[in-house]
Amino acid sequence: MKLFLLGATGKAGSALLDQALQRGYLVTVFVRTPAKIIARHPNLTVVQGDALDIEALNVHLPGHDAVISALSPGTLKHSTLLRRFMEAVTVAMTDSGVKRLLVLSVTFLFHNAGLLTLVAGKTIFRNIKRGSQEMEEVVQNSGLVWTIIRLPRLTADGRAGEYHVRPGHVPPARSISRGTLARFVLTEVERNQFLRTVVGISA
Ligand SMILES: NC(=O)c1ccc[n+]([C@@H]2O[C@H](COP(=O)([O-])OP(=O)(O)OC[C@H]3O[C@@H](n4cnc5c(N)ncnc54)[C@H](OP(=O)(O)O)[C@@H]3O)[C@@H](O)[C@H]2O)c1
Repeated sequence: MKLFLLGATGKAGSALLDQALQRGYLVTVFVRTPAKIIARHPNLTVVQGDALDIEALNVHLPGHDAVISALSPGTLKHSTLLRRFMEAVTVAMTDSGVKRLLVLSVTFLFHNAGLLTLVAGKTIFRNIKRGSQEMEEVVQNSGLVWTIIRLPRLTADGRAGEYHVRPGHVPPARSISRGTLARFVLTEVERNQFLRTVVGISA
């Protein structure tokens, strides 16, 4: 398995990188600042680049089995970055012949989320919700073989625990650890169980 990981220096992405290497995958991380990648492993290739740069993505994407996006704009303010990331990534994937895409998103987008989540999605996280919705639209219209993984609050624990996954439905708990999220995402890369599906995932 050869993975192309975006956002590997972030909270979710770093757990994904650790577990992918533990599973014996070949992993390419495409990062703005290579010095932030502490892992050293013969299966790891670190490429410096910006996720908005289609030409650079086109150079490095061919030959990978799947792309995982753990990108985030890193702001609570209004941002079109998530949409533009996915526009660049999906165009480059199509050009490069890489079809499988797994993307992290947010539980705020479930209409049946609990009251607290709905309120948070309308107030403090309203811009994240809007940006993630725009991102999901790009992914769903891309023609790629995608899975969108909507998660609640991410906790710092790197250990891989049990998870609950619900296709098209809000997950049962309000958080998930980084390690458990990574376990689900990499299991889905192997099993391809939720193709062209939005899933809710939590502890
Ligand atoms: N954290 C949570 O509690 C939570 C909850 C629900 C959903 N999510 C979702 O999970 C996803 C990941 O979240 P996170 O908290 O792990 O994010 P994060 O820690 O803020 O990491 C974001 C990643 O995106 C990278 N990035 C930003 N702009 C880039 C660019 N132009 N080119 C290349 N890389 C770029 C960052 O790289 P740099 O290191 O260079 O900045 C970093 O690796 C997001 O979609 C988020 O909405 C997170």
